[in-house]
Amino acid sequence: MHKKFTLQLNKMKSLKFYATIVAVLLIQKFQLSISISNHKYLTPYEVILSWKILDYKFPSPQMRDEFLKTKQFIPENNPLTGIKIFGSRLFVTVPRLRAGVPSTLNYIDLKSITVKGSSPQLIPYPSWNMQKIGNCNALQFVQSMEIDRWGRMWIIDVGRDNIFGDKTVKCPAKLLIIDLATNQILHQHEFPPNVVNPQTNYLNDLVVECKTGQWGCWAYITDCWDAKLVLYSLEEDRSWYVQHSQSMTADPSAMQFHILGGTYTVNSSINGIALSPKRISNHDRLYYNPLSSRSMYSVTTSTLKHAFMTGQTKLSDLEVTCHAKNRPSQSGGTMMDSTGLLFMGQMEHNAVSYFNTTKLSSSYSLSKVDHLFEPEVVIMQDDIDLQWPDTFAFDNQGYLYLTTCRNQRFFSNTMDFNDVNFRVVRVFVGSRSYMY
Ligand SMILES: *[C@@H]1O[C@H](CO)[C@@H](O)[C@H](O)[C@H]1NC(C)=O
Ligand SMILES: *[C@@H]1O[C@H](CO)[C@@H](O)[C@H](O)[C@H]1NC(C)=O
Repeated sequence: MHKKFTLQLNKMKSLKFYATIVAVLLIQKFQLSISISNHKYLTPYEVILSWKILDYKFPSPQMRDEFLKTKQFIPENNPLTGIKIFGSRLFVTVPRLRAGVPSTLNYIDLKSITVKGSSPQLIPYPSWNMQKIGNCNALQFVQSMEIDRWGRMWIIDVGRDNIFGDKTVKCPAKLLIIDLATNQILHQHEFPPNVVNPQTNYLNDLVVECKTGQWGCWAYITDCWDAKLVLYSLEEDRSWYVQHSQSMTADPSAMQFHILGGTYTVNSSINGIALSPKRISNHDRLYYNPLSSRSMYSVTTSTLKHAFMTGQTKLSDLEVTCHAKNRPSQSGGTMMDSTGLLFMGQMEHNAVSYFNTTKLSSSYSLSKVDHLFEPEVVIMQDDIDLQWPDTFAFDNQGYLYLTTCRNQRFFSNTMDFNDVNFRVVRVFVGSRSYMY
């Protein structure tokens, strides 16, 4: 009996021993796989540009003084948000949310940047003349732009300035297409008031779909004040919109943003937008999310085109798919890469994460049930550098770029301009944008 007991004990010991070995091996394997995936997806990010406060390259010091004196330039009212890259030009936007933004669309010549983290002056694009407030042929308020495969920049313009202040209508909302090779305007589309309301819109972000050459393109645009998804066909030079209350308006339970001990209330509708990649899905699906939401939604691009053709303005519940609920945080801008990874900011965690949108069941096209993604994967986190990851861009070298801008402080007038507030950050992910 005693012997048997000992034997059993030994057996148990050896089992435990084996279990320990297996556990160690598993942990090693786990660590190995983590470090491999770190190597690809957690490559330390770089802060390539940073500013305490934004400044511009004025044609002369006199003009800068004049702009300061007449309050056409109020430096603390200038937030950095949109970003896109073309060659060595890094384009950024400064939305005219408040008065005193001298230039809403700008660029920085990356060739002129020799020190990482430096604070270059912004150069108005395509010119100073194109930034004139009240000239409806010029740019009034640009938050986002996109650059297509033919080097054309698609720019959305809200049409008025100081939208947090006086509500005077200035110009119709419009879409401009500029050839980046010649810096000439190729095309302009004014949105009719029944599609984009000039008094109340806030055109926020866009994606561009070109399936059939450079004229068969569509733009999908979020309007985060009127809770609309705006559709534009370049071939027809015509625009339309659709709405879906549940997926496109703010979720009352997601309006509180808890960021570094502060609580900020944001009631904001459809904001982030991303298109499934050309190579993998032929752009079959459009993803979107309200800013005040912990969900991620999608609709097929064929549904949107059908609505465009037939004049339908309401999407039905059956046409909208929900892929994620109760996410760890709300997100603003999002960006799809060429492999189907959907990148986004996690505002409450000062982090950037992704969903692998290719990991869906085969019943993907039946939008009757929710098609939940696997939990999102965090690739970067930093409480200082990554406060409010706002907008994303890809270069063609495998880098994902983003702006971080402490928007929670801008909204609540609690910016500290002795501190760095605006950054351009990049991380190597090894892919390109959804257009490829
Ligand atoms: C959020 O804003 C919308 C549009 O202005 C408004 O209709 C809604 O009542 C607001 N929700 C809350 C909870 O304040
Ligand atoms: C995404 O999912 C696909 C399909 O399951 C897989 O092949 C790919 O490796 C995944 N990518 C990442 C980064 O997890």
